[in-house]
Amino acid sequence: MSFKITDKVTWVGKIDWELRRFHGDEYSTDRGSSYNSYLIKDEKTVLIDTVWEPFAKEFVDNLKKEIDLNEIDYIIAQHSEIDHSGALPLLMKEIPDTPIYCTSNGAKILKAHFHEDWNFIEVKTGDTLNIGESTLTFVEARMLHWPDSMMTYMDSDAILFSNDAFGQHYASDLMYNDLVDQCELYEEAIKYYANILTPFSPLVTNKIKEVLSLELPLNMIATSHGVIWRDNPAQIVEKYLEWANAYQENQVTIVYNTMWNATRRMAEAIAEGIKSVDGTVTVKLFNAANTDKNDIITELFRSKALLFGSSTVNKGIMNATGGLLEMIKGIGFKNKKAAAFGSYGWSGESVGIIEEKLKDAKLDLIEGGPKILWNPDKDALEQCVEFGKEFAQKL
Ligand code: FEO
Repeated sequence: MSFKITDKVTWVGKIDWELRRFHGDEYSTDRGSSYNSYLIKDEKTVLIDTVWEPFAKEFVDNLKKEIDLNEIDYIIAQHSEIDHSGALPLLMKEIPDTPIYCTSNGAKILKAHFHEDWNFIEVKTGDTLNIGESTLTFVEARMLHWPDSMMTYMDSDAILFSNDAFGQHYASDLMYNDLVDQCELYEEAIKYYANILTPFSPLVTNKIKEVLSLELPLNMIATSHGVIWRDNPAQIVEKYLEWANAYQENQVTIVYNTMWNATRRMAEAIAEGIKSVDGTVTVKLFNAANTDKNDIITELFRSKALLFGSSTVNKGIMNATGGLLEMIKGIGFKNKKAAAFGSYGWSGESVGIIEEKLKDAKLDLIEGGPKILWNPDKDALEQCVEFGKEFAQKL
């Protein structure tokens, strides 16, 4: 499959309808994804990025239907992660001398991945490549989200090839943002930001300001995953600025692990207390053990406050809560209040352990969350409701 975007630019990527897990098992892709590769035909011919390795043969075969591979003058490798560089080894077997434009970190990482001494041309922000009527300008986007990431701006068609930035793990043959279901699109875009880009939010803000200051015309943002932003492409740039700025909605999320429902009942009582203080706040509860971890991260991203609960097991906390607390430490949410709660049978360490982990994650901890022995009775549940009220009053 290929898809003509403009007179000069053709999409030559791969829609991966089957994909359900990405980055190993670290990211759920319930709506699949795509690996977007773009072929530019001007006086010179340029290929921007490739696809994930399992689709390498299909990609190269399709590319041959578009063009004699020997006519490709330049390859631009905007990002060396395998989902975009995975077809390079097969492609380079066919056209081994073709120059590959990438950042210096890109060259290092591609060499480390593939152990090939291809013809790398290292570029940095502001470097240009004239290809006829069009000039391509490179913009390094270090740590958005790898050290090698970069974007490419094509002046003749006013397209920003943004690579991972502004992407979504979202398979659709409709190709453009205005043609797909807007709820699905934004669900995938915010999940992508929350799980992948939150740790780099200060860099997101600075990079967007840097690019906006150039006042370049912008017809499209052609990402490396999901649909192309052609209808008001600035909308996703504005969303990124909002998301990068310690984003929160009027939401509190309660995440818990429970063995025999004592901790679940505590969670529900805390939620009742919160709602009794503020009827307008959205309170969402998730059992960490049976909810997708990336969907929970997205809900936490949208929240102004987080509560984590677990019963004590073997002097520790339960597995899924532990995993999520490790994730949020790495993600580095800003400006969110947090608290812990939990039930126990004898030793009762869980609340203390969670509180330490919330501090480690640099969340604004409200201490003193309820710790209940065995199954909560009426008084214990009332204690949880009271804690919910106190917590809500501090938001
Ligand atoms: Fe889509 Fe960072 O690779």
